[in-house]
Amino acid sequence: MGIPFDRLGWLFARWGHRTYPEWAEPILRDWLAERPEGARIVDLGGGTGVLTRMARRLRPGLDYWIVDPAGGMLRHAPAGARTLAARAEALPLEDASVDGVMIGEALHHFSDPQAALAEVARVLRPGGGLWVYDFDPGRGVGRWVYWGERLVGEPANFFAPEALEALLEELGFSVRTHARKGRYVLTATVLAERPREAVPQG
Ligand SMILES: C[S@@+](CC[C@H](N)C(=O)[O-])C[C@H]1O[C@@H](n2cnc3c(N)ncnc32)[C@H](O)[C@@H]1O
Repeated sequence: MGIPFDRLGWLFARWGHRTYPEWAEPILRDWLAERPEGARIVDLGGGTGVLTRMARRLRPGLDYWIVDPAGGMLRHAPAGARTLAARAEALPLEDASVDGVMIGEALHHFSDPQAALAEVARVLRPGGGLWVYDFDPGRGVGRWVYWGERLVGEPANFFAPEALEALLEELGFSVRTHARKGRYVLTATVLAERPREAVPQG
């Protein structure tokens, strides 16, 4: 079972923006403002590009890539954004070739989110940034989303924000989390001086 994303592109293209609370937008704006001119930004598990549309409105002119295994979602991507059909756990991207990765309401859908985050750490340049929006399975609305996704047979690989912070720190990121009522936005930066053993090798 599970959500048939490949057949639901029309639905996410129309309603997907509703998942993002208003308070997430200024955090995204500030995060985008820190990216260099022309930066390569990967929208991972980006689906129909809902987050890319929001990001392009806030910071036009960056090189946005929507990466997702579901062709039926990618088909609805906005014109001008590049698309790549791939799983987050095996990114067909060079080491240290990306300036920013955004993961919006997608990390908990990945079958192996730890492997996906190791891939994110591998493809990001030193100083590169990660922006994650997700639900906290133990608080507020996050509890309902967690149980709903378990019922429909999704992986439901949710992280409490504290657990995600700890994992990213191990991978060589500095992390900041903004949490409200069972939702959170986490921003993280690859430390320029991260220890070599923290960098996954491609
Ligand atoms: C709820 S949708 C969110 C899409 C988009 N980020 C948005 O904000 O509308 C979750 C997405 O994760 C994708 N996905 C599921 N497993 C994945 C994986 N292993 N690697 C990358 N994307 C995956 C799905 O195909 C789907 O497009």
